Amino acid sequence: MTESLTVRDNRTGIEYDVPIVDGTIRASDIGKIKAADPATNEEGPGLAVYDPGFVNTASCRSSVTYIDGDKGILEYRGYPIEQLAESSSFLEVAYLLIHGDLPTKEQFEQWVHEITFHTFVHENIKGFMQGFRYDAHPMGMLMASVGAMSTFYPDASNIMDPDNRHLQVVRMIAKMPTLGAWSFRHAQGKPYVYPDNALSYTENFLSMLFKMSEPRYAADERIIKALDTLFILHADHEQNASANAVRSVGSTQVDPYSAVAAGVGALFGPLHGGANEAVLRMLRRIGSIENVPSFIEGVKAGNERLMGFGHRVYKNYDPRAKLIKKATEDVFEVTGVNPLLKIAQELEKIALEDEYFVKRRLYPNVDFYSGLIYEALQIPPEMFTVLFAIGRTPGWLAQWLELVQDKEQKIARPKQIYTGQRGLSFTPSEQRWA
Ligand SMILES: CC(C)(COP(=O)(O)OP(=O)(O)OC[C@H]1O[C@@H](n2cnc3c(N)ncnc32)[C@H](O)[C@@H]1OP(=O)(O)O)[C@@H](O)C(=O)NCCC(=O)NCCS
Repeated sequence: MTESLTVRDNRTGIEYDVPIVDGTIRASDIGKIKAADPATNEEGPGLAVYDPGFVNTASCRSSVTYIDGDKGILEYRGYPIEQLAESSSFLEVAYLLIHGDLPTKEQFEQWVHEITFHTFVHENIKGFMQGFRYDAHPMGMLMASVGAMSTFYPDASNIMDPDNRHLQVVRMIAKMPTLGAWSFRHAQGKPYVYPDNALSYTENFLSMLFKMSEPRYAADERIIKALDTLFILHADHEQNASANAVRSVGSTQVDPYSAVAAGVGALFGPLHGGANEAVLRMLRRIGSIENVPSFIEGVKAGNERLMGFGHRVYKNYDPRAKLIKKATEDVFEVTGVNPLLKIAQELEKIALEDEYFVKRRLYPNVDFYSGLIYEALQIPPEMFTVLFAIGRTPGWLAQWLELVQDKEQKIARPKQIYTGQRGLSFTPSEQRWA
């Protein structure tokens, strides 16, 4: 059976058969539906689809990540997030996202070696990072330094060469923790710590964050595992705002550093990756369990949002939030319980029972509990989104790789519905102001 949609244009009485493929119709087929403009009687432009925020528009075919928001399912390349979080490592997940398959032992060792030996950045990057103000937000520093990498690796513009693409992918995954950690050290007024290639990816990141005068930084295994798991949980999330930013900028065929810098910018926003920072500030502001009911009333009255709740895609408990909630227990075993946890649990309990949230299907998302872990690790709120960005880098790059190899992709250029004036006559300023 051929699947199609019959559309009757009541302006003209003409019927159109629009093919349905993979549960979608092509916007270009809708564009074939035309009627005469009543004002001029000339054939008007084709019908377009109006979709602010791309709520119901597919922009690509992708085999990277699958989400079923109603059922709370998240899979990378077909593997359930729960299994990856439990038994894989961040670098293995990064390999999976980038290459599409799990690595053999040899492939994995080679991958880890490559990533480990690209962790250093050019000394001049350190120089310009030092030029930021003492209170510069680390996400601003990260965005700028990722973008600046395109000037250190001008060969990255050769995006049609697969070997070259691979090199930039390795460089970016490897250097992101270095840039992220240095932006943190800068804010702390502490010297930047160079990567230690004898350490694992996540342990090295912790070392670059916290090492002082000791010869080698040693982190608790449970902390390393928890942070590695958080990176896994953040590694990709299909066509979210920052992946879309990477794809949109990448569609101009610019180098991947410039495209990923756009992704970092998108992630910075409080409705996206900035939400975990906002959650922590919200919990601090609430201050104690007694204030939770009045805070919830304020949210219901529309005065503010319950940060860390709600999701464009998940209309069920975000599977990542479940796993993060579990990871909080491991971390708090080492660090002691974060007192804000009680407030978060109370908020969750009330919200999950309250009709306002139930009706709108608002559940905790990935950001609701992650900030509590980061804070327990002595990581300040302005760094939270940087950690998200480090975890998300393989996802952005997997999306970018898919984009540049997809023959159907074009430069991203949405349509608009023009609402302004037309055909005005310009009077030069000397006459207008006379
Ligand atoms: C994530 C988010 C941007 C998704 O937004 P969206 O899909 O555009 O959903 P909408 O903004 O249309 O929200 C739908 C309804 O739920 C309400 N809502 C959504 N998230 C809410 C929240 N966190 N607190 C209170 N109400 C919320 C909206 O007010 C709206 O109610 P209405 O129908 O009465 O107007 C949104 O849920 C949000 O702002 N959450 C808080 C920020 C956050 O945690 N972001 C991290 C995402 S991983």
